[in-house]
Amino acid sequence: MMLEVRDLERRYARRDVHALRGVSFDVEAGQRFGIVGESGSGKSTLVRLLAALDKPTAGTVSFQGRRIDNLPERRLGFLRSELQIVFQDPMGSLDPRMRVLDIVSEPLGRREPGRVAELLAAVGLPADAAGRYPHQFSGGQRQRISIARALAPNPSVLIADEPVSALDVSVRGQILDLLASLVEQFALTLVFVSHDLGVVRHVCDRVAVLRRGEIVELGDVAQVYDAPQHEYTRELLAAAPNLRAELARLSGGDDG
Ligand SMILES: Nc1ncnc2c1ncn2[C@@H]1O[C@H](COP(=O)(O)OP(=O)(O)OP(=O)(O)O)[C@@H](O)[C@H]1O
Ligand SMILES: [Mg+2]
Repeated sequence: MMLEVRDLERRYARRDVHALRGVSFDVEAGQRFGIVGESGSGKSTLVRLLAALDKPTAGTVSFQGRRIDNLPERRLGFLRSELQIVFQDPMGSLDPRMRVLDIVSEPLGRREPGRVAELLAAVGLPADAAGRYPHQFSGGQRQRISIARALAPNPSVLIADEPVSALDVSVRGQILDLLASLVEQFALTLVFVSHDLGVVRHVCDRVAVLRRGEIVELGDVAQVYDAPQHEYTRELLAAAPNLRAELARLSGGDDG
């Protein structure tokens, strides 16, 4: 099993928030696992625990059969290359003072212009992008840079936390298509977080519906969308924008 999450809890004592309340699920190798829920439901908290960027207050996370929730940072080196995250806001996650060459090389620990050129090509950026700075790119292109950096260490798991919600609607489809094709090309396991059901359906084969820190529904995408078992899932589906229109929109667009 790629990831095993058991009875995971996270309380933020300072603000008296119980952000995760006993979450359990498995992610198999090669799966595209969606986590969907409203703002504040605990999605990013869960992602940080999956990536061992934070410690749970209870419960466990295992990566390829090995507990990671209780390891000190000095023993997490393997995970830092095996599992990579793409965040929502590419501007916030790219150091504005660094050139793309250095940004993409960062997870490798040293500059590798050849590898960076390969990665830039894989994400559809021109080779001369390596010498430029983040502000010289559009939002969609900056997210391509983040994706190139995430792929640099050859991870087995890619986590994308709302990777298109900060982007212009017109470029979302292209970035989602890129992610989907890279997941295929590099045989990645994907954990994909979104509050947008249309997007999750487009990208994932399994989905967990998170509500106030609990999974209320978990299953194959087709099953959850066509025959939702939980009232909350039905409400989310009813509130979602017209899925057909959404998908038509997502498959068009221009990156600028
Ligand atoms: N570092 C923190 N300290 C205190 N409370 C936090 C912290 N991070 C998140 N929270 C709280 O935990 C709850 C879950 O937040 P989280 O960011 O995980 O939700 P989310 O589903 O990612 O939301 P969004 O869709 O807005 O990104 C919220 O009530 C939030 O205010
Ligand atoms: Mg979040």
